[in-house]
Amino acid sequence: MDIGIGVIGCGTIASAYLKNLTRAPGARVVALADLDVGRARALASTFGVPHALDPDALLARPDIDLVVDLTIPAAHYDVNRRALEARKGVYAEKPLAATAAEARALVELAARVDQPLGGAPDTFLGVGLQTARAALDEGAIGRPFAAVAHMVSSGPERWHHSPDFFYQPGAGPLLDMGPYYVTALVSLFGPVASVLADGGQTWPERTIGQGPRAGERFPVDVATHVTLLLRFASGARATLLTTFDVQASELPRIEVFGERGTLALPDPNTFKGPVRVRTATDDAWREVPAVPGFASNARGIGALDLAAAHRAGRAPRASGNLASHVLDVLEGGLTALRTGARVEIDSRPDRPAPLTPDDLAELGWTQEAPA
Ligand SMILES: NC(=O)c1ccc[n+]([C@@H]2O[C@H](COP(=O)([O-])OP(=O)(O)OC[C@H]3O[C@@H](n4cnc5c(N)ncnc54)[C@H](O)[C@@H]3O)[C@@H](O)[C@H]2O)c1
Repeated sequence: MDIGIGVIGCGTIASAYLKNLTRAPGARVVALADLDVGRARALASTFGVPHALDPDALLARPDIDLVVDLTIPAAHYDVNRRALEARKGVYAEKPLAATAAEARALVELAARVDQPLGGAPDTFLGVGLQTARAALDEGAIGRPFAAVAHMVSSGPERWHHSPDFFYQPGAGPLLDMGPYYVTALVSLFGPVASVLADGGQTWPERTIGQGPRAGERFPVDVATHVTLLLRFASGARATLLTTFDVQASELPRIEVFGERGTLALPDPNTFKGPVRVRTATDDAWREVPAVPGFASNARGIGALDLAAAHRAGRAPRASGNLASHVLDVLEGGLTALRTGARVEIDSRPDRPAPLTPDDLAELGWTQEAPA
C-alpha cells in the first residue's frame, strides 16, 4: 500500500492521529490544512509533514488519495463532500455529518465517484472490543440475547475550558459519546432495527469549572440524561444510558448477556482491554486472553484499513455505511425521545469483519503496539 494522506482540521484530536498516521507503513502524510493555517504549520513542523496548506490547496494536490477530516462536526458534511468531489477518499471524525440525511448523501456520493468513505470511531478495532467479539463468535457465553451499556459522567465542563457546545443541538451525551457505544454494539450484534428512548434535562444551566471562564453559567439546549432501548435485527436487545448528569457511579461500561454467561467489556472510547467472562459454571470472573492487536491509542487505524480495503476490493471496517447507520440510530433516538414512539431504523450495514493477523500486519501492528 502506498497511500498519500491529507489531514484537514488541526485541533485537539489531530496529534493523536498524526502520531499513528506518520508512522504507518505504506502511508505518507503529505499535507495538513486548517482554516487557521498557522495551526497546520505548527503541527506539520512537530510531525515532519512536508506541506501546511489551506483546505482548497490540499484538495487540489494529486498526490493525496485520502483526506482525514478532523474538523468540527458542523463542518464535516461540507469538508467530506468537497473532498469526495475532488475524487479523494474520505475518513471523517464522528459524526460523519451533522444529520443522518447528510451522512446518507455522503455515502451515495462516495459510491457515485467510486471513492472510499469511512468514519470514526475505530476504537472497536482495538484489542478490547476485538477480544470481546472473538469470545462471542467462539460461543464463550452462548447465544447473546442482550446487553447493557452505560456512558455515565458529570459532564465535560469539569475539564473543558469552553464546554458550551457539548450542550447544544448536535452534541449532548447521546450524539457526542453515543457513537463509541453504538458502534461497539453494532460490531458485536450487527445493525439496529429500532429504538425507543426516554430522558430529559436535569439542569437548564451549567457552570464552567475551569479556565479563564470558570464560574460562568451557560444554557443547556439538549437532553443530558438519555436512555435508549435498542432492538437489533438479530433479535438481541440493548439498553444504553448516556448522561452528563451523574456525580458518581460504579455501573459497568458494557456487559453482554448470553444464554450461558456474561461478558464484561472495557470502555469503548479506548482501544484496550481487559474483557472478562463469567458463565453459569464459573465461581468468579475470568479474564479472556486478549487477541493480538492495538491496545493503546491507534486512532487512524480505521482510515488505514479503509485505504487498504479500497485497494484490495474488500469491505472496510469503519465504513461510511457503519458510521451513517450509527447516526441513523442516534438521530432515531432523539426522534423517539421527542415523540415517545418507537423509531424504525432502515439502514442495515454488514457487521464489520474481525481483524485478521494479515490485516494487522498490513496496518503496521507489531508486538510493541504504538504508544
Ligand atoms: N477532542 C477530543 O478529545 C476528541 C476525541 C474524539 C473525537 N473528537 C472529534 O474530533 C473532531 C475534532 O474535535 P477537536 O476537539 O479536535 O476540535 P477542535 O475545535 O480542537 O479542532 C477543530 C479544528 O478544525 C478546524 N476547522 C473547523 N472548520 C474547518 C473547515 N471548514 N476547514 C478546515 N478546518 C476547519 C478548526 O480551525 C480547528 O483547528 C470532532 O468531530 C470531535 O467529535 C474529538
